[in-house]
Formats: sequence, structure tokens, C-alpha cells
Amino acid sequence: MTLPNELVRALQQSRSVVVLTGAGISAESGVPTFRDAQTGLWAQFKPEDLATPEAFRRNPKVVWEWYAWRRQLVAQVEPNAGHRALVELERRVPQFTLITQNVDGLHQRAGSRSVIELHGNLTRTKCFEEGAAVDHWEETGEVPPRCPRCGGRLRPDVVWFNEMLPPGVFECALAASRSCDVFLSIGTSALVHPAASLPLDALKRGATLVEINPDDTPLTAHVHFRLRGPAGVILPALLRALGPASG
Ligand code: OAD
Repeated sequence: MTLPNELVRALQQSRSVVVLTGAGISAESGVPTFRDAQTGLWAQFKPEDLATPEAFRRNPKVVWEWYAWRRQLVAQVEPNAGHRALVELERRVPQFTLITQNVDGLHQRAGSRSVIELHGNLTRTKCFEEGAAVDHWEETGEVPPRCPRCGGRLRPDVVWFNEMLPPGVFECALAASRSCDVFLSIGTSALVHPAASLPLDALKRGATLVEINPDDTPLTAHVHFRLRGPAGVILPALLRALGPASG
């Protein structure tokens, strides 16, 4: 695969890189994306029936079980070449921030260190009433289980629609985006705000904007470089094009 020389040079000279990932980076690990019409996670359900506080109040069992299914799916898959290439990129760039909308923890399992999880993490659990993290609870057969402290229902520690992002998390992502010189948007449909605004913030501050995705998105018209294809192919090619790591 031939990559634009200007992009390779921009990355080689970059002091600060921000990467925003979405479900597409985990697709090659076997985790379905959200919006694929046939196989996407929302294909059979409306997001508001599964991923809102209202849905949980209405039918906590269904929502808990849906996340339990995803947790088990994610536990069975492995990070792919795209996740691994980002670990390598982190080693090579002086300042590197990985912002992910994914809740699957695959970046960390691959070895990425500086990861901002905008939408939480599927493997963590918290109390629906108090919001506090909960590691252990008694399995009584009740679904969802109860918080050992207050007796409230337990829920996954992810961000649902109509919920705020965890305090401080978006601010960190925004600060990194505004100060980077290269911003890569990878495997995201760039539809869900506020994440979708980050590449445009970076662009306004003069960053080189790159999109890696087999399809066009609302961001495509704004990017300097559009690399069309799967992240698991394009990212390793990009790392090879950077040449051997110095030092
Ligand atoms: P989407 O399912 O909306 O988009 C996935 C994107 O990945 C699409 O643009 C695909 O074209 C692209 N894609 C598919 N396979 C790919 C591959 N192998 N390599 C690169 N790109 C690929 O997922 P997100 O953009 O992550 O929020 O969705 C954003 C948020 O909306 C999610 O975090 C979730 C969802 O509703 C919440 O749950 C709050």
C-alpha cells in the first residue's frame, strides 16, 4: 500500500499525536460495530431501548443481560493489528494521546498506555443509584445484582445516551486535541457528540487531520488525508512507512 509522503513526513516530524478511535478499530477482532445495517449492535434494537438510563429503569434485566453478552463476547476476542500498531505509534511519538469511544478495553489489552475512555468500560460495574464503582457483589440470582452498600441495582460503568461523560474526561480529550499537530480519526462514524467535535477542534488549531475508514463519514470532507480501508491493514502499513524507530 502506498501512503502519501506528506503524511508520513508529518507523522515523522510530529511532536504530539492524538488518535480518536471508534467501533471500527475493533471490527477486525470480531466485535460488531454499532451502525452496520445488517450485523451492527443496534441492528435489532433501537439504542434508546438498551443504552439509556430510561431503558434501564424500564427494563434493567434486559439491559444488564445485553451488556453481559457483550462483556462475554469481548472477553473471547483478541486485540488486532490495528490496536497493536497504535501501541507502536505511542512508543515513537513524544506526546501521544489515544481517545477511544470504545468500551471494550482492547487498546489497553494490546498495551496502549495513555488511553482516555470517553464512554467508560464494559468490564467495570457501578451502582445505578450512587454511581460508585463496585468490584464485588453477592450473586443471589437476581438480575441485575444489588449494590452491597446501598441495595441499589448494579449497572455497567459505561456512558449511555442522555448521560454526561465522566467528569474531566472530555476536558482532557479536548486539551490534547487542541494542542496536537496530527490527529487521526480511526473507525468511527463521527456521528456521536461530543467525540465527533474533537477532530474539528484539532483542525481549527492547525493540526493535520487524517481519517482511516473503509467508508466516508461526515468528517471526510474536512480531512487532509483520507485512507480508505480497514484499520488493521492501514495502520501497520503506516508504521512500516515511518521506518525504523530512532534511539
Ligand atoms: P459506529 O458503528 O457508528 O461506526 C463504526 C465505523 O467504523 C464506521 O464508520 C465504519 O465504516 C468503520 N469501520 C468498520 N470496519 C472498519 C475497519 N476494519 N477499520 C476501520 N474502520 C472501520 O461506531 P462508533 O463511531 O464507535 O456510544 O460509534 C460511536 C458511539 O456511538 C459509540 O461509542 C456508542 C455508539 O452508540 C455509546 O454507546 C454512548
